[in-house]
Amino acid sequence: MNSTSNIILVGFMGTGKTTIGRALADQLKRDFVDMDIELEARAGKPIPRIFAEDGEPVFRRMERDFAVELSRRNNLVIAAGGGIVLNPDNIRDFSATGHVICLKAAPDEILRRVSGSRHRPLLEQGDKAERIQNLLQQRQHFYDAIPCQVNTTGKTVCEIVTEVRQLFHVGGARCAATVAARSAPPANPAP
Ligand code: S3P
Repeated sequence: MNSTSNIILVGFMGTGKTTIGRALADQLKRDFVDMDIELEARAGKPIPRIFAEDGEPVFRRMERDFAVELSRRNNLVIAAGGGIVLNPDNIRDFSATGHVICLKAAPDEILRRVSGSRHRPLLEQGDKAERIQNLLQQRQHFYDAIPCQVNTTGKTVCEIVTEVRQLFHVGGARCAATVAARSAPPANPAP
């Protein structure tokens, strides 16, 4: 890992990957890649149409091929789609050459952020709040497995970017410490 290693933001839909990725890339003077936008350009159609006409497995294959391609480049800030964690090979390849950071947010905050969105086919089937809850439940272990985590709930873009940059600068040591702190009992447990 070095100063030109990619920074890859993963996390559930609505956790802020695109907004934070763009601001971070701007600060670091790096190119920003939003995987969803690029995949739509390559397919020549929006994601809901890829899902509807070609099926989710085709989208996941495109996502996988693109992850392999991006892992071979450097100096990028990458916002991955929320489902990138479903294939562990993606995280393995991204982690081999870059810093993977998982953004998270409270379910009601996610709902608020995605409520106006019509480009997320997985949230279009039934009640959005229920879909978020179910999908989060199904995927939680994938997101939790990423050592670097940043909670974006109730924070400004500036605060989140600073937090991500701090994690990135100290690399793995800080991430390991964060995990340890999360799993340790509180220093002064309540009586
Ligand atoms: C998906 C998340 C979306 C997009 C696609 C599938 C998912 O990206 O890749 O709709 O499976 O969580 P965002 O997380 O950017 O919304």
